[in-house]
Parts: sequence; structure tokens; C-alpha cells
Amino acid sequence: MSGPRILAIESSCDETGVAVVVGGRRIEANQVATQVALHAATGGIVPEVAARQQLRWIVPTVEAALEEASTGWADLDAVAVTYGPGLIGSLLVGVNVAKAFSAVHGLPLVGVNHIEGHIYANWLTEAAADEPMPAEPPFPLLCLVVSGGHTQLVLMHDHGRYTLLGQTVDDAAGEAFDKVGRLLGLPYPGGPAISQAAEGASAATRFPRARTEGRYDFSFSGLKTAVLRAVEGYRDRGDAIPVDGLAAAFEEAVVDALATKTVAAAIDHGVAAVALGGGVAANRLLRATLQERLQAEGRSLLVPRPAWCTDNGAMIGAAAGFRYVAGDRADSALEAIPNLSLPWLGTTG
Ligand code: KG4
Ligand code: ZN
Repeated sequence: MSGPRILAIESSCDETGVAVVVGGRRIEANQVATQVALHAATGGIVPEVAARQQLRWIVPTVEAALEEASTGWADLDAVAVTYGPGLIGSLLVGVNVAKAFSAVHGLPLVGVNHIEGHIYANWLTEAAADEPMPAEPPFPLLCLVVSGGHTQLVLMHDHGRYTLLGQTVDDAAGEAFDKVGRLLGLPYPGGPAISQAAEGASAATRFPRARTEGRYDFSFSGLKTAVLRAVEGYRDRGDAIPVDGLAAAFEEAVVDALATKTVAAAIDHGVAAVALGGGVAANRLLRATLQERLQAEGRSLLVPRPAWCTDNGAMIGAAAGFRYVAGDRADSALEAIPNLSLPWLGTTG
């Protein structure tokens, strides 16, 4: 397969990801230096610590990616980087290193939106150069982006063309997992910890599902409060807290809310396929529930591998591949934008 060979850098939060991706699809290298152990000690991300770690790991991770791909700067067509949304200190490291590499090696620079990267994880493949490519996701495509910072239902009409259908009105899904994980005394990050605790446990209760004004909007802060009240109740009565059962009840409520609205949007907009993206898309119950409910409606679910759901460079390389072909180029004026949003064609409720 041909297409541009792009070195892609992701440094928007607490993972340092560098990948080499060809034609927006084929992964030649995907290196991720994670800070999870470091942030587990503080129970969450400290932005200054995250930025310092980005600075520490960025160059070794670039070198590791080039080595994994057995390639050098002369064989690359462009350098791509996440320029938002994310933590300013972390973003600055990637953006400035990418600008420097681009200038030093005379390579074009492509700026990528982190959310667009999560969506494009669905285009990634590890198929070898001489193997047939799996089919591309079909348009229109409904995308559910669920990460630590975002929860959005996006209708993707074509490459780079998006309508925002709905989003969270308070906490992001991953944020809710992380906060509830802390409440239940589970290790950081809460998502995988809750999922593991819930595995095989039966729900200790049924938490209420939130109502929202917008048909496709989400709300998770009430659910977080409901878990807190339940924990306090057990404490006040001097009872042991059924951590696994509460984790199962919480996970069930989040997954039910996400799946219900996503399936409704898929039917309303007549899409043949739904694509998942973002760290929470690694959640097994979410994948299984959506798969089952969409199948019952004659629609399919696309899910990137778990390692491509959490932050990584390959997803940025995938989005960059399509932006490069569309002629999208940044220059040394590219700035990190912490609250960057996708270029919406429109928003509907
Ligand atoms: O996309 P991501 O790596 O970073 C952001 O862009 O925010 O997402 C991280 C989020 C965290 O909140 C983490 O708890 C959640 O994804 N997460 C999960 C799972 N794995 C990661 N949530 C639920 N179940 C999982 N298996
Ligand atoms: Zn992310």
C-alpha cells in the first residue's frame, strides 16, 4: 500500500505516543511511554508532572519509533502532532518538538485534533505491506468518542466533515470512571480498575439513568453522586462496602446510558455502522453491549484494539494521513490549543 509515511506525535495528556503510519492506515511503529504508575501515586494527573515527563520521554520515544519501523528521517513524508485539546504543558512539548523535527529535517508539518485521532483509530491496521487492507469504515459513520476529557456523539459525513449530535453536559465518561474509582478506593486510572472489579460481580443496586434536555446528550455527575451516597450509606450503617457490586452497578449505568443514546442516534440517522473511540472504548461491557444492541438493529460496530483506544501516536498518524492527502499543512506558527474543538459543520440536539 502506498501513501505518505508519517511520524506522528501524541503528547496531549499523560502518555507520550510516537508512531510511524503509512497511508493513514498501516502501522509500522507505535511506541507509548505511559505515566500511569507515576500518577497512580497521586490518584490522578498533576499537569506539571505530566508535562515534565513528556519532556523527559519525547525524544527517546521518537527514537524508539524510528527504530521499530526500521526507518530514518529521509524515508518520511511528514511529521504530525496533536495540537489540542489537552493539557497546555503536555501539548507544548509535542508541538514544539514536532516543529523542530519538521524544520531540521525539511519535512511538512501536519496538525491533528486529538478527538479526530480517536475517531481515526478505526482506520488503523497492522496488515503487512503485501497483505490486503481491511475495508475502510463506511460513511456516514456515527462515532462515539468516550475519553477522560470528552464524551461526544459525532456524525461523520466524510473525511474531516463532522456534525456534533450530542455531548456530556457535565463529566466525561472516563472522568466519571476515574472519580468513582477513587470513591471506591480503587487504583488510578479508575476505568480499567472498575471494569476489573465488576467482572463477574452482580450489581449491588440499580443506579438511576440521567435525563438530559438534548436527545443525544449525556450526564454522569448525578451518577457519581449516587455512588457517593451509597458508599456513605454503607459507612453510616457500619456495613462493609460491596466495592465489586457497586463497581458493577456503576459500569452498567454508564454503559446503558452510552449505548441507549448511541443506538437511538444510529437509527435516527440511518447509519450502517458505529465507530467507537477514546480510552473508555477499551471497556469490555461497552463493546459487548453496543455490539449486541446494534446487531439487533442490523447495524455494525467498529472497535479499535484496546491499545489504539487509549492515547497513542498511531491514531494521530491515521488522521494525519487523510489530512496530508487533503493538502492540509501547518507551519512554524502552529500553536497548542488546550480547548480546541473539531471543525463542526453544525450541531443538532
Ligand atoms: O483517551 P484516553 O486515553 O485519554 C484522554 O484523551 O482522556 O482516555 C483515558 C480514560 C480514563 O478516564 C480511563 O479511566 C478510561 O479512559 N479507560 C477506561 C478503560 N480503559 C481506560 N474506562 C473504562 N473501561 C476501561 N477498560
Ligand atoms: Zn484521548
